[in-house]
Amino acid sequence: MKIGKHLIGIRGLSKADITHILDTAEKMKEISDRPIKKVPALRGKLIVNLFFENSTRTRSSFEIAEKRLSADSLNFSASTSAVQKGETLLDTVLNIERMQPDAYVMRHASPGSCKFISNYVKGSVINAGDGAHEHPTQALLDAMTIREKKGGFEGLDILICGDITHSRVVRSNIHLLKTMGANVTVAGPATMIPPHIDKMGVKVETNFDRALKGKDVVMMLRIQLERQTKNLFPSMKEYYLTYGLTEERFKLAAKDAIVMHPGPINRGVEISSEMADCRESVILDQVENGVSVRMAVLYLLMGGGEDEASN
Ligand code: CP
Repeated sequence: MKIGKHLIGIRGLSKADITHILDTAEKMKEISDRPIKKVPALRGKLIVNLFFENSTRTRSSFEIAEKRLSADSLNFSASTSAVQKGETLLDTVLNIERMQPDAYVMRHASPGSCKFISNYVKGSVINAGDGAHEHPTQALLDAMTIREKKGGFEGLDILICGDITHSRVVRSNIHLLKTMGANVTVAGPATMIPPHIDKMGVKVETNFDRALKGKDVVMMLRIQLERQTKNLFPSMKEYYLTYGLTEERFKLAAKDAIVMHPGPINRGVEISSEMADCRESVILDQVENGVSVRMAVLYLLMGGGEDEASN
């Protein structure tokens, strides 16, 4: 079953598509436990990792996923490229395109940039985060982790708290979690919640304690200072006092609730160190699942067959 040529966003994927990606990612996970962590599924394919913004988790897990599938990778970093000499995104892509890549993994600060380049290239484009628009593989790895820990999505009460306005992770997660049947609440200061977000089918709360009550999954988000153009809260200390996840506050959530965060975490701002490292925290499980999800996405987009995946 093909999921399309590109992965620009979760929006547009069906429940069946998402389930198929998660099922494939589960199969891929076993490969990472083998003594020789490699299958020939994408041998001879060239994947270009185009990163115009910083990344630790997404970039390294895509590179590892490509290696595990035996693809060749070209790692492009804007900071050491001719972009610094004034070359545009399109000219950069048109030049690389002449080297015949089979796929691009791209992170860029501009929403819509991945869709834009998909109009000019022959291969697949995978969005690794475009501004505040979408980060589809993050939502998929979050979903894989939720499914592992909770067994499914139907009827789960999920809270996403933080800088909702500037988060691409929240948009991808809302599309995914709503499609899969979960109830989603977003919380944060009113200055960090975009108007009309309720039109996406989520509940909106500005009182964090009220929002936490009975939640099965608590997903905390970083404050994206690099995307904020003005101060949206008085001080970090005040933010932590009002919206920081602490052990005391977490008692308001459901008994078996889990704590998630896409990373990078800012300890003592949106989450305490105790909560980041606690038994209920699945933050590093999310990172681990990132490799399997990205293997699955690359494999499915680039035309792999079911049987070949586990060889
Ligand atoms: N979650 C996430 O996208 O992390 P990086 O910015 O490190 O890739």
